Amino acid sequence: MLNTGSTSAEQGPPLWLLAELTYRCPLQCPYCSNPLEFANHKGELSTAQWVDVFTQARALGAAQLGFSGGEPLVREDLAELIGAARELGFYTNLITSGMGLTEAKIEAFREAGLDHIQISFQASDAEINNMLAGSRKAFEQKLAMARAVKAAGYPMVLNFVTHRHNIDQIDRIIELCVALEADFVELATCQYYGWAHLNRAGLLPTKAQLDHAEQVTNQWREKLAEQGNPCKLILVTPDYYEERPKGCMNGWGNIFLTITPDGTALPCHSARQLPVSFPSVTEHSLSHIWYDSFGFNRFRGYDWMSEPCRSCDEKEKDFGGCRCQAYLLTGDATQADPVCSKSPHHHKILQARAEAEQPQPGIEELTFRNERTSRIICKV
Ligand code: FES
Repeated sequence: MLNTGSTSAEQGPPLWLLAELTYRCPLQCPYCSNPLEFANHKGELSTAQWVDVFTQARALGAAQLGFSGGEPLVREDLAELIGAARELGFYTNLITSGMGLTEAKIEAFREAGLDHIQISFQASDAEINNMLAGSRKAFEQKLAMARAVKAAGYPMVLNFVTHRHNIDQIDRIIELCVALEADFVELATCQYYGWAHLNRAGLLPTKAQLDHAEQVTNQWREKLAEQGNPCKLILVTPDYYEERPKGCMNGWGNIFLTITPDGTALPCHSARQLPVSFPSVTEHSLSHIWYDSFGFNRFRGYDWMSEPCRSCDEKEKDFGGCRCQAYLLTGDATQADPVCSKSPHHHKILQARAEAEQPQPGIEELTFRNERTSRIICKV
């Protein structure tokens, strides 16, 4: 559904609900999209509160429900939540690192009606994977669970987050996916929000690295097609090498609804960092939150835009780009996303690209996402 610049009275329902069940996670990825100050948000909705959120969202018209985190597997009620969502008629998707997953849990989730599982990897070899994940067992566990997911009859959907330290191994990454008989592989370069923004200099690949990754991926696509291998490779490149911004979230408050562990409702997973007040499901109905709250209406339509977006003939396509990125890079969320070459702040993107060409910190110098670093950075 396109954001047509509608008022709240004309706004369609949320279609995609993302339930961030918890910020707890056994890993410590330096590109985690959780807020830097996550250690400050300890509270989690109860099972009954989550089921109430699902019920309200379904009544509004939401059809797809993603379970994520943190690591959603740390919630002991996950199978119960999946079952409740399925009973309400949601298409359900589990987004997991695979840490804490077991064959018994996969079976329990299957019985509860889970439709889809996506497992994320950090690299194609144990050393870098485990270092980024902050666990010596992460790689073996992920391999075993990817196989177990497939054996349980699910399509194998893998997500590899790529950056300047592993993107040159994309050939090996794809080789591993093919050996695992993956059905879908998302090769997603970091987008620079949350912890990835903090570590941007140490993560952003060079243009040459990206071009190489694209070339290798295309070669693999041809090879797989020739072999009749159904594995689909999806390469997601960073905004920082684009000249026009993405239509982020398909428009603010248009189809996506994220609920954070403590019940704060957001139009995207990064919005918590914006100087905007967002409502909580513990205080308001989802209908009020979606249609009437200040936070969800803040960037709907076009009236909030400043120039050059306001008079731009592409505004109906990209909605001025990403509000979170505009805020992170300019300190003002009403600005055009600096990814756009028409933005007066586009030089910040060009500067980041130029920095990527220079030597940058090694993996071990990145700031890893954990409670300790969260407290130090944010003094929480
Ligand atoms: Fe928040 Fe783009 S990530 S609007």
